[in-house]
Amino acid sequence: MNIQALLSDKVTQALVAAGAPADSEALVRQSAKAQFGDYQANGVMGAAKKLGIAPRQLAEQVLTHLELDGIANKVEIAGPGFINIFLDPAWLAKQVEAALADERLGVAPVKPQTIVVDYSAPNVAKEMHVGHLRSTIIGDASVRTLEFLGHNVIRANHVGDWGTQFGMLIAYLEKMQNEHANEMDLSDLEAFYREAKKHYDEDAAFAERARAYVVKLQGGDEYCREMWRKLVDITMSQNQKNYQRLNVTLTKDDVMGESLYNSMLPGIVADLKAKGLAVESEGATVVFLDEYKNKDGEPMGVIIQKKDGGYLYTTTDIACAKYRYETLGADRVLYYIDSRQHQHLMQAWTIVRKAGYVPDSVSLEHHMFGMMLGKDGKPFKTRSGGTIKLSDLLDEAVERAGKLIAEKNPDLSSEELAKLVDVVGIGAVKYADLSKSRTTDYIFDWDNMLAFEGNTAPYMQYAYTRVSSVFKRAGIDEKSLTGDIVLAEDREKALAARLIQFEETITQVAREGTPHVMCTYLYDLAGLFSSFYEACPILTAESEEQRNSRLKLAALTARTLKTGLDTLGIETVERM
Ligand code: ARG
Repeated sequence: MNIQALLSDKVTQALVAAGAPADSEALVRQSAKAQFGDYQANGVMGAAKKLGIAPRQLAEQVLTHLELDGIANKVEIAGPGFINIFLDPAWLAKQVEAALADERLGVAPVKPQTIVVDYSAPNVAKEMHVGHLRSTIIGDASVRTLEFLGHNVIRANHVGDWGTQFGMLIAYLEKMQNEHANEMDLSDLEAFYREAKKHYDEDAAFAERARAYVVKLQGGDEYCREMWRKLVDITMSQNQKNYQRLNVTLTKDDVMGESLYNSMLPGIVADLKAKGLAVESEGATVVFLDEYKNKDGEPMGVIIQKKDGGYLYTTTDIACAKYRYETLGADRVLYYIDSRQHQHLMQAWTIVRKAGYVPDSVSLEHHMFGMMLGKDGKPFKTRSGGTIKLSDLLDEAVERAGKLIAEKNPDLSSEELAKLVDVVGIGAVKYADLSKSRTTDYIFDWDNMLAFEGNTAPYMQYAYTRVSSVFKRAGIDEKSLTGDIVLAEDREKALAARLIQFEETITQVAREGTPHVMCTYLYDLAGLFSSFYEACPILTAESEEQRNSRLKLAALTARTLKTGLDTLGIETVERM
């Protein structure tokens, strides 16, 4: 049940019946304070202005038309013309029952769209670093959320698997194979890349060979293709280990790297020229965009083909957007890329739209995110200033979680303990990122993310085990609960209302790609459960009916927490 959408419809109808224009917006929001009801409609003021009448007068008209029988037990006008809506506990109780009886917690199926999600996107022969971590974690939460709602999601791992650097990488791989065929160790990709570059810079014959290999690779030479494939495979096997540890749903089949679009590029350049969008300029092919000005105030030139014939990152993203619409049939394309690439994407998409490659009905969305900073507010680096390897970061997370958890759980078996440490350590890194609004930079802080207090993974995971332990302690199976839910106490009602807001929360996350909204919701839900649990005895309730009613609230809370955390890619355990 999406209460917000339901009330929006009802209030809009009443607004129109009261004489407001058909496009009036009800602006229904969850109320910030209980005294203003569960929801408030803020649209009367705007509509009254358009009509040129007093807002309170319109509000009164709206109330006479507003049909909330059985849904709300009180509706009142407040301030200049706000409408406060108090949900009827009996109606809420019914919604809780319905959610409990449903696998999907009462979330209505959506009209499925094909949604391409571009995320993770590491580069070949390079280690995944913390910059790719945010894209991977937030992108995967978005994918899980959209799939939960029933959309057809295509994961697109836009791996950096093409470019002139492959000449030197192939030449170096060849050298390694010749010299160390038997004990070749490529586990340190960073070192591999560094060494290749060093040879390229210092060894003229090597550089010569490297340059020849680029040309051959681009010409489709069998040997170079094979060496290239090897580099991609080694890198992606290594990345796959990170994905697995991170509980991220990407697989090798999701790789749609830059190379995929290479064969489209000459056609794109020719077409943009034919359409009069691209012109020759100083030997290069350039699209001038009025939308963007250079520092002299002239239209900015975006190079799509260099003097030497090479194509650019932008050319690839133009082809890529076209492919996602034409070939993959996307209705929406979401890009989880850091904010520094915003201008790049906007330029590519401006060209895409002008050329008519993707119609306006298909949305291209840059779900950007800020940088990951260290505690000192500077980009997150190792002590010596190098980039932090993702695998090292995850090792540290698990090690730190291990220390904390071993202390708190002396009686767990070593197997249970190892699982728990993993779930909490990895969960902490992921949740810390997911719980912050993605558009801002965020400060990576071990102590904060591993705290058992506050909006953290350990707290949420613990909250889940606490709720589900209510059943274990009572030795009750939630499916055997009979009788009706009765919401007599304020805290019962507050908990129920929040439970039923799961659908509007997940809908918002799916629309905006903002998993922190889900985190805030779950954190709040856990808090409401605690207050309810303190004030409303469950196992020692006054009657069997009351006990069962409260157990049902606990059951739905446990399932909502688990499902919500699932959509974020955060694992739970039954005991901790
Ligand atoms: N590989 C790129 C990087 O490491 C990110 C690619 C993002 N996706 C895209 N369609 N441009 O910066």
